[in-house]
Amino acid sequence: MKRLCWPLASLLAVVIVTLLYLFVIRGSTLPASDGRTSIVLTSGERDLVLTEMRGFLIAVQQITQGVVDDDTGAIAVAARRAGGAATHEVPPSLVGKLPIEFKRLGFDTHSQFDRLALDTEQLGDAAHAQRALATLMQNCVACHAAYRFDLESR
Ligand code: HEC
Repeated sequence: MKRLCWPLASLLAVVIVTLLYLFVIRGSTLPASDGRTSIVLTSGERDLVLTEMRGFLIAVQQITQGVVDDDTGAIAVAARRAGGAATHEVPPSLVGKLPIEFKRLGFDTHSQFDRLALDTEQLGDAAHAQRALATLMQNCVACHAAYRFDLESR
């Protein structure tokens, strides 16, 4: 019995590490023709993420408008809409397809929007919000430079 246990335990460990690598770290990715990493999704999954992206763009426009109008209330409302609470219910199957760096950048972007909302409420400073937006948008640039979406061929 005892002699069987070790090989079985090691096998289980290898399986767990492989699954963790595939579903947490690597995701469903392929090298793309343009040098980026392609994340391969179903059309429904891609629609969901791109809808969230358009929400980001709306927030960027509204925050910029708020800075121009010196309307810190509008800045905070727009930033909060793109924050963590606004994250769509992402199905676990989709989470498993996203590589770890993509998840990190996405999560960090939502939390920077939350921080921008909170800081703007507390400081009432549109210029501070504008600087925070400039920093936050480095995430948009970095992620778009690294990843794109392609459809599963079925
Ligand atoms: C975690 C990665 C990531 C972050 C962060 C990110 N994006 Fe994206 N976004 C993508 C990917 C991948 C695509 C698809 C690009 C492609 O397939 O060429 C995309 C597409 C888009 C699109 C196109 C939507 C459509 O309907 O086609 C917009 C607009 C967009 N992003 C805006 C933003 C803005 C604004 C930010 C920052 C506030 C941002 N994104 C942050 C990964 C990201």
